[in-house]
Amino acid sequence: MSTTQIFKNPRAQHNFQGRTCSITAVGSYVPERIMTNADMEKIVDTTDEWITTRTGIKERRIAAENEFTSDMAAKAAQRAMERAGVTAAQIDLIIVATITPDMMFPSTACLVQSKIGAKRAAAFDIEAACSGFIYAMEIGQQFIMSRTYETVLIIGAERLSSIVDWKDRNTCVLFGDGAGAAILQHRPDAHGLLTACMGADGDKAMLLCMPGGGSRIPATADSVEAGLHHLQMDGKETFKNAVNAMMSAATEALRRCEIDITQIKLVIPHQANRRIIDAVTERLKVKPDQVFVNLDKYGNTSAASVAIALDEAVQQNRLQRGDLALLVVFGAGLTWAAAVIEW
Ligand code: ACO
Repeated sequence: MSTTQIFKNPRAQHNFQGRTCSITAVGSYVPERIMTNADMEKIVDTTDEWITTRTGIKERRIAAENEFTSDMAAKAAQRAMERAGVTAAQIDLIIVATITPDMMFPSTACLVQSKIGAKRAAAFDIEAACSGFIYAMEIGQQFIMSRTYETVLIIGAERLSSIVDWKDRNTCVLFGDGAGAAILQHRPDAHGLLTACMGADGDKAMLLCMPGGGSRIPATADSVEAGLHHLQMDGKETFKNAVNAMMSAATEALRRCEIDITQIKLVIPHQANRRIIDAVTERLKVKPDQVFVNLDKYGNTSAASVAIALDEAVQQNRLQRGDLALLVVFGAGLTWAAAVIEW
């Protein structure tokens, strides 16, 4: 069945007056330094066995001392640009999704703009934690569909190693650093993002947060001493919310496209915890070989997670041009999102 036959619903096609939003290319970057579970055992009271069975994570990448979120973002962007055959001068807009910007301001997107030399581009950050890359994709798509811009660079990039509490075994074992990027363009011959749905629940904001450093609790010697500039998480509650929100976002995205899960070649979920991925994909009745998992190598890289996974899935030929993929994410906010893309 051709895609045109599958996507009868014009809204689902995101096909507005002949305009579609194609994902021309993707790219990613992870730092060289690998930190294994054995390395974690030397820092906190944990074991490889606990981390592996509770999360599925075996190792994570940690940025070098002088390597910041914007550096990783620029490297991922350059890989995506090379593959897309897009020059810096062609980029109209840069959106960086991150919860670990280089600085409170200016935006990391502006720093990336300078690093890649995209002088014409507008640039801004968005913050939707682990859901950020799909949020950025949906925002970028709106600019393409409205004919405001022709080429949008979206990036999910994180240096979570700079905000985790390396003394807290509940959280420090879970996270890693990295970046993933995609080039969005209108291409008359190709689809890309078919639908995306996003959601949020600010009533549960405090389940997963970094309390200090903003206008509520500016940095003081006391706030640093109290550990308020580290990521804090109620793991159990976050877990429950993640499974439910990812399930309903995925179901809604499929419904909007009028397809069922058997038409999806690959599910690419947020890489936070193997047990969350299994719970969601079992409920969606997805076969294990239809699910892309790389959290064993990288841990949870928040906004970069699904972007790195999409890039690896493409590089490993798990997705061929024309295949349908379901991306589904969840993060602090709380936020969640799902997208159906035709690669
Ligand atoms: N090593 C050994 N023991 C540990 C460790 C560790 N690294 N961490 C916690 N424990 C202990 C706890 O202290 C607890 O011990 P206790 O029973 O004596 O108190 C025990 O293990 C069980 O802890 P739980 O919290 O019940 O473990 P759980 O099975 O819930 O797993 C986890 C914890 C992995 C954090 C899980 O809850 C999870 O993945 N939550 C969701 C995370 C997530 O999805 N985040 C989403 C987005 S992240 C973002 O937006 C930035």
